[in-house]
Amino acid sequence: MTSLFDPYDLGPVRLKSRIVMPPMTRTRTTEGDLPTDGDVPNALMATYYGQRASAGLIISEVNDVDQSSHGYARVPGIHSEAQVRGWRVVTDEVHRRGGTIFMQLWHVGRLAHSSILPNGQAPVGATAERAEGSEVFAHGPDGRLRFMPVDTPRALGTEEVSAMVRTFANAAANARRAGFDGVEIHAANGYLIEQFMNSVLNTRTDRYGGSLENRTRFLMEIVDAVVAEFGPGRVGVRLSPFGKYGSMPADPLTEETFLYVVEQLGRRGVAYVHLLYELLPDGNMESAEFKPRYLDHAMLAKARAKFPGAFIWCGGFTDRARAEASLDTGLVDLIAFGRPYIANPDLSERLRNGWPLAVADRSTYYTRNGEVGYTDFPAYSNDRAVGKAA
Ligand code: PHB
Repeated sequence: MTSLFDPYDLGPVRLKSRIVMPPMTRTRTTEGDLPTDGDVPNALMATYYGQRASAGLIISEVNDVDQSSHGYARVPGIHSEAQVRGWRVVTDEVHRRGGTIFMQLWHVGRLAHSSILPNGQAPVGATAERAEGSEVFAHGPDGRLRFMPVDTPRALGTEEVSAMVRTFANAAANARRAGFDGVEIHAANGYLIEQFMNSVLNTRTDRYGGSLENRTRFLMEIVDAVVAEFGPGRVGVRLSPFGKYGSMPADPLTEETFLYVVEQLGRRGVAYVHLLYELLPDGNMESAEFKPRYLDHAMLAKARAKFPGAFIWCGGFTDRARAEASLDTGLVDLIAFGRPYIANPDLSERLRNGWPLAVADRSTYYTRNGEVGYTDFPAYSNDRAVGKAA
């Protein structure tokens, strides 16, 4: 039986356990002094991540690679010096407390709204097809932040796609300067990279569209550039085959694409593939339950045979028994616990000792209320010491 508390060698990085804190947007950034600074990480975020440093691996909330990738207000980025400095405070605190932290990088592509893009410009996408029915957190007509239907994107030109690869490489270089141990490329959930991979959505006729090789070229070029920056073993990729989030059309070539992608990622020195596979068919992640049929074990076994690195499985885990049973299938190596990390900074210790888990209040997931519902959850042992045990 594999224990969640067995260490794991992720490339050159030794993780102290199999427990991963996956990326979660928490909207506690500070507005930069200049519009080009973007939304900036701060000392409160250093406290939050530092409190969670006993995880085997922390993957940060998602980060914009440039200003055009800002799909959701208050999501941080890694394209300005202010952001590099802000994140440095976070990584220093995590390292001081013995943790390991990767940064998640994205470009939202068409899942964006002009109200939070520079100069009110249109979003950019693999094509000019709007994500009908999708919404992002942006300014409404009254100037207030709320969920808004996404705008129609402009298709990136061929040379712009190549330039975007360099933008990812630059973001990875910044992440390295900010002290991260590695990066995760967000190639899931209907954002820009997945927009290229989907054979129905991607109707491009240049070298980034058409054949399997062409549709996955954008991701592979990014991976090569980012691995060159960080070195093999320090780059992960998040994928969501069969996910419908972001109005992704059902793709009859999903299996073929997924298996080709994991094989190519393995050849390119990618450390892990991170799978979230409990998205409901309607794309609703919030109410998602464990639904293995959307990526069944047989498919995962095929993927595993093609990829020598680790698989991280994220999907509604809340307890040690199910996590360890999943490790015992031999199909995955690391287990991500998302929501439980919100209210349990010491989740590792709680799982190890069988202590009860605290439950977060959804209304504080994404707020500007600073520490409320963010850094004010006590560790269980402290909690007990002051007589407030659940
Ligand atoms: C996603 O991965 O789907 C995602 C990430 C960050 C957000 C929203 C959605 O702010």
